Amino acid sequence: MDEKYEKVKKILKKYNQEQLLIWYDKLIEQKKEELLDQILKIDFEQMEELYNQTKGKKDFKDCKVEPLSYIDKQKLSKEEREKYEKEGIQVIKEGKYAVVTMAGGQGTRLGHNGPKGTFELEVGEEKKPLFTLLAKTVKEATKKYDAVIPWYIMTSKENNYKTIEFFKRHNYFEMGEENVKFFIQNELPMIDTKGKILVDEKGMVKEAADGHGGIFEAMRKEGIIEEMKQRGIEWVFIAGVDNVLAKMVDPLLTGIAIDKNYLAAGKSVVKNNPKERVGVFCKKNNKPSVIEYTEITDEMAEKVDEDGELLYGESHILCNLFNIKAIEEIGKNKLPYHSAFKKAKYIDKNGVIVVPTEPNAYKFEAFIFDAFEKLNDMAILRVKREEEFAPVKNAEGVDSPETASKLYKDYIKNKNK
Ligand code: UTP
Repeated sequence: MDEKYEKVKKILKKYNQEQLLIWYDKLIEQKKEELLDQILKIDFEQMEELYNQTKGKKDFKDCKVEPLSYIDKQKLSKEEREKYEKEGIQVIKEGKYAVVTMAGGQGTRLGHNGPKGTFELEVGEEKKPLFTLLAKTVKEATKKYDAVIPWYIMTSKENNYKTIEFFKRHNYFEMGEENVKFFIQNELPMIDTKGKILVDEKGMVKEAADGHGGIFEAMRKEGIIEEMKQRGIEWVFIAGVDNVLAKMVDPLLTGIAIDKNYLAAGKSVVKNNPKERVGVFCKKNNKPSVIEYTEITDEMAEKVDEDGELLYGESHILCNLFNIKAIEEIGKNKLPYHSAFKKAKYIDKNGVIVVPTEPNAYKFEAFIFDAFEKLNDMAILRVKREEEFAPVKNAEGVDSPETASKLYKDYIKNKNK
């Protein structure tokens, strides 16, 4: 232990991060050991690079940005639809299809105490947790297609235990424990404006999940890709935990990807208005991509085609399908990290717990859509917002439990008509 401690001290001195041991003496033996191990796992060179990155904004002016073509579900003929669906259904029936729910986020905007998937949404007479609503979708599909559809849940170190407990309590929604698997995503330390890594309120390194783009690396590291391959999975649908209308088992989208020979496909909904704060699909330097609302110029956002449709109007709704080969390829390398300035509780150098009222620290996240640029092309399917997109993001207002609850109830009402 002394040896390890000395080694850690030396590393911290080299990188000017000695504050990380400020609480060390107050920790119990087991925690001391954990802290040292946590520090030894940090890639300090990477942290320095990430800190430097916070100083300059990425410039997209050098990129060639163009609209990305899409297929409108409503405009498909009956024959086209049937042809694609037939191809997709075959894949599902043969047990080559899996779904992944990304549930590693912190859900800070919603402010729910516990994993976001355990948040209870009012859906009629009663309230149901988001996980329960998603489980219903998967279970209905397994019945409809008479197939086993394994469900993988990505958690974070912070919420993994509570998430698994929740599923145990619900007996894995009667889907069989062997068909519901969990894997933990990676975390990265948070730093202050001077590049110092923060110490959390328990005296450990302050870490945060590394964004939904961390999924590919996590799937590789946690052996999920290997497991899927052994099960014969070829297509994987990946969506967030907070879209209660996510159509996770979609033969149409799958059939389109197969038919067009693409390794990925994504769903879009039409942007509500040019100013809506959503990322939209586009092509950047000839590769599929998403341009964020913070990057798009007003002029681009307002551009329309000859039919009066927004040229950059296909919102990315975090509902994407990947071929396992694409996941394997993408998982070999890290995706770029983006920084976000957030409020983070920490212990300062005098040993005082600071609860900030304003953002004080950088968190680093990879975005799943940065993976699109690794592909030559992908299919985009425009679907109806009211059928497939009801996000629960904020405690109130837009994309809140209130709006999602209404969308969900309306959808069920229309479906049963
Ligand atoms: P959001 O970007 O909306 O973040 O995630 P969030 O963590 O849920 O909420 P805020 O921003 O803290 O309020 C979109 C989806 O991606 C998942 C989330 O769980 C959600 O399903 N996600 C996000 C992860 O799985 N891991 C991450 O590191 C970040």
